[in-house]
Formats: sequence, structure tokens, C-alpha cells
Amino acid sequence: MSFMRTEGSTLNYYAYDSLDSTNEEAKRLAEQGAPHGAVVTADMQTAGKGRRGRSWVSPPGTNIYFTLIVRPEFAPEKASMLTLIAAHALTRGIARETGVVPEIKWPNDIVIDGKKVCGILTEMSVAQNAIRHVVIGAGINVREQSFPAELADKAIALDTACGRCVDRARLLNAVLEAFREDYEDFCKTESLTGIRDSYNRLLVNRDREVCVLEPGGEYRGISRGITDTGELIVERQDGSVCRVFAGEVSVRGIYGYV
Ligand code: BTN
Repeated sequence: MSFMRTEGSTLNYYAYDSLDSTNEEAKRLAEQGAPHGAVVTADMQTAGKGRRGRSWVSPPGTNIYFTLIVRPEFAPEKASMLTLIAAHALTRGIARETGVVPEIKWPNDIVIDGKKVCGILTEMSVAQNAIRHVVIGAGINVREQSFPAELADKAIALDTACGRCVDRARLLNAVLEAFREDYEDFCKTESLTGIRDSYNRLLVNRDREVCVLEPGGEYRGISRGITDTGELIVERQDGSVCRVFAGEVSVRGIYGYV
């Protein structure tokens, strides 16, 4: 299935001044039949959602909040790779538009100078073991003034990283184009083979000591990059090699966030 071009198409583009959450609106629109490749944006969100039940602070006039609706034909087990594709595409889109190359904290945080510039929240609807739709939401920190005090040392804005005022519409187009390319590449093999090397070059925690936090405990090891299906390869201190699945665990640098 090819990914539709969204630029210039009003049919597939839903732009709002304010929403509860672009992910929630995308799910509502998907239920009403919105097509594969549709994009939902909002200038602000009143109930922006982060991962693990957290909220995503979403003031107006400052950042980018958008959600893509995709209707893949592959099996639900493969959908977790979409989040890695999104992280790769967002990183490339940001680099193309701003000249600043961010890094990826596996599986899908995007960082600059060790601080988070973008977060991704993917949600899937499945029926009878088939994907009905997946919504991929991303928040990109663009303007500096939007951070609450508690995020000031953990988050960074693109304007700060670039030293100029980044055009939000151009940036969104660059990101959507990068996603279209990466999604089409993924659909050829239904694996990350085509982006794996590029993803690994962008991986901030590659060849670094990480702490893997699993529901049953934690261990340390050296992160060696991702597999073709998106698991993180971690060499443990006892010499064994683990493949870490996104969603089950959290990976932290041993000295801080990355
Ligand atoms: C994270 O916790 O890192 C994920 C944050 C995802 C935030 C984006 S903003 C646009 C979309 N709508 C939401 O409610 N959340 C995502």
C-alpha cells in the first residue's frame, strides 16, 4: 500500500486551532473512515497525551502537534516497528529543514544535546487479528518559552538548537515527506532492513552502557543497535546478548536520561 501525498490535499488534511488530543481526533476520524495517510494537526491541545499515561503540555502558537492515520495491510505484530519508522523520519525531517541532526533514544524519543525535542505516541486498533488503523502522534518542541519549570533541563526547543525561528509549516511538510519515504520503504520488506543502518547511526545510546528496566527487574549492558525488526541488542556483563522489545521495558543511560 502506498502512502498518499498529503501536501496540497485538503481531503487528507485536518487542521484545527484546538483539540483535546490529535491522537484522539485521529482515532475518531479513522472510525468515520478517514483514509490512509490522513494528517491531523492542532495549534494547541487541551489534553495532549504522552506515553505511560503522562500528559503532553501543548500550549498554542509554539510547537507542532500532529497525528498520522495509517491503515497497514501487515500483521498487528509488526506495528511496533511503525514507531521506529516515525522516529527515523522525524529525525530526518528535522535535519533536512533545520540543518541540525537530532539523535534517537531507542525506541522513539528524539533528542538534541541529550534533551528531548520530540516524543511519539502510537496507538493501534485491531479487530479479528487484523489492523483496522494505527495513529502515530508526535509533538515537536519548537519555541523555547513553552516549557514548564520541571521540564526546563530535560527538554529542548528546535529554535534554541538552531539559533533561529523555525517555520512550523515547512518543518511539518519535511517530516511528512520523510515519513512517506520511510513508510514506503518499510512496506517493500515489512522490516526495518532499509533504514536499520541509518537508524543505528542516529542512535544516541549505541555502544553505550544502558540500564534495561523490565517489569521483573533490571540489568546493565552495552547497547549495540537495533535488529531488522526493531529490538535493541544489548550485550550483558555476563557475555549473553539480549534482544529488548519496545513496550515491555525502559532503557536509560546509566548517568541520566540518555
Ligand atoms: C511521549 O511521551 O514522549 C509521547 C508524546 C506524544 C505527544 C504527541 S503531541 C501530538 C499527539 N497527540 C497527543 O495527544 N499526543 C501526541
